Amino acid sequence: MQVKIYKDNQSLSEAAANEIIDLVKKKPNAVVCMASGDTPRLTCKLFVEKTKKEMVDLAHMTFIGLDEWVGIPPENDGSCHYFFQNEIFKPLHLSLSQIHLFDAKAVNLEEECKKMDKITFEKGGIDLMIVGIGMNGHIGFNEPGVSFENYAHVIDLDETTVTVGQKYFKIPATLQKGITLGLKHLQESKKVLLLANGTKKAGMVKKTIEGEITNAFPASIMQMHPRGFVMIDEEAAGLLENKN
Ligand code: PGA
Repeated sequence: MQVKIYKDNQSLSEAAANEIIDLVKKKPNAVVCMASGDTPRLTCKLFVEKTKKEMVDLAHMTFIGLDEWVGIPPENDGSCHYFFQNEIFKPLHLSLSQIHLFDAKAVNLEEECKKMDKITFEKGGIDLMIVGIGMNGHIGFNEPGVSFENYAHVIDLDETTVTVGQKYFKIPATLQKGITLGLKHLQESKKVLLLANGTKKAGMVKKTIEGEITNAFPASIMQMHPRGFVMIDEEAAGLLENKN
């Protein structure tokens, strides 16, 4: 794992957007997996702008969504579907065949997990995974206590996730379960960027980088990834012992 500290969220998000652009230029059929949420929002915006400006051809890439709230339909503005549709797919006119998101309304969620696992394997694995960190150290919906060996799975949401998650919804939502790629997917991804910005994430960032590696704090798995990059701004780095 490497830690990269940026002046602010703008420069951090520019670097993350450039990572996607550079990858797709080098490997047009790249497989990119992304989290939704407030953290990657600016990265998505800059990625869209840069793609248009540099006329990057995305026609052969594959996009995989990291997770979804079980039972929340894609048209709900708090869903991960809605986020990606508006932030990336519509502005860049990605075709449906390139996009793979969890159907959180599927009758058989176990099958849905198997389907997503199969897609990642068949595409040759994830080239670049871009994730955030939750206020309980989760990545995607890999909640505290989750096995590091899981592929896609359905999980009971942690109390913190249920409470914090309401920020995405205009009308309060009933959030109980999540469907998510697992930490085994993260470990097998060729490169992982964990992004965090702002003082409110400083405690989480410290535990991710300087804490014990434990499934009680899932983001600590980043320490084990040979090509894992924790990309943070100065505020999020505020509590680190070692900032070099
Ligand atoms: P946020 O969520 O980017 O909206 O802070 C992070 C997460 O829960 O993974």
